[in-house]
Amino acid sequence: MSSFKQIVELIADDLTAVEAKLTEQTASEYSFVDMAVQHVVEGGGKRLRPILVVLSAKVCGYEGSDAHTLAAVVELIHVASLVHDDVLDEAAIRRGRETLQTKWGNKVAVLVGDYLHARVLSMLVARRADDPAMAILADTTQAMCEGEVIHAYKSGDFDISEDEYLKIISFKTGKLIAASCTLGAHLGTTDKQRLEALTTYGQQIGTAFQIVDDVLDFTEDTDKLGKNTFGDLREGKLTFPIIYARSVCNDNEKQTLEKVLNPNTDEAEAIAFVEALFQRYGVEAHCLKVAQNYADRAKAALTVLPEIPARVALEQLADYVVSRES
Ligand code: IPE
Ligand code: IPE
Ligand code: MG
Ligand code: MG
Repeated sequence: MSSFKQIVELIADDLTAVEAKLTEQTASEYSFVDMAVQHVVEGGGKRLRPILVVLSAKVCGYEGSDAHTLAAVVELIHVASLVHDDVLDEAAIRRGRETLQTKWGNKVAVLVGDYLHARVLSMLVARRADDPAMAILADTTQAMCEGEVIHAYKSGDFDISEDEYLKIISFKTGKLIAASCTLGAHLGTTDKQRLEALTTYGQQIGTAFQIVDDVLDFTEDTDKLGKNTFGDLREGKLTFPIIYARSVCNDNEKQTLEKVLNPNTDEAEAIAFVEALFQRYGVEAHCLKVAQNYADRAKAALTVLPEIPARVALEQLADYVVSRES
């Protein structure tokens, strides 16, 4: 059995409770709203961020149901970001299903994303208004939007630097993954060292996670991934593998790369060129090595925590983020 499956089994009861929360907290009395919302809320995804909330809470000694509420909250922020991201990226498939805007158009997709954010606010208000979760999630949602806006703004910029890109992904993806860990930890501890350790862990695996997501876009197949592959390339979006390939290839290849990133280029031609380029320069292996370095830093941060099963699970999760195939 894969370590990811084992982790899911270890906290199966918690995850069932999270699913129940998700359904209960997003239900709408208006049937079309409910149908569109459940289309994206149910039906999959790895539930990585809820898993992180639950494990971070457990590793800090907390076992109560508030972890399920916070886990549902971070998943809803994530789902809202995916719904909006698919509008930005004009993506047709998500979690093996048609995206909302493919099924019902951009307007419905934008509004369902907003609806989910509104539900998040209500769920947080129903807890305690003075809870650190409010500030952490407000800050996180803001950073995610900033990351996505900067990425969209920079999308035509062939010269974006690796550092700039790493900053973008630490915002658009890393922040919510880190917040999942911080929120879980807050439930069980006020110890600054432990809180910081889990935040650092989340930031590091968050960056690894997006680098691997960028790689999978080129290397996996659509069925396994549940979303269309070569989407980033089709859109002319510069992601980590392309930025690395650009930095190591020769001037001729660089010119062609810039050309094939133009969405008007024939798709088959673009894919063939990029695949050959990646092969030539060992791009996949390089990116996975960089991602593994982040995962290793994440694991190193956990050493201040007790060596209980939840910590082992978090260590395994860091490796899973790099080895995953979907
Ligand atoms: C996809 O996230 C978006 C990124 C931040 C790369 P996930 O790969 O966690 O998506 P689901 O939740 O499993 O569908
Ligand atoms: C992650 O970027 C987007 C969010 C953080 C919402 P991507 O655009 O790479 O995510 P996918 O590949 O569509 O899941
Ligand atoms: Mg996308
Ligand atoms: Mg992607």
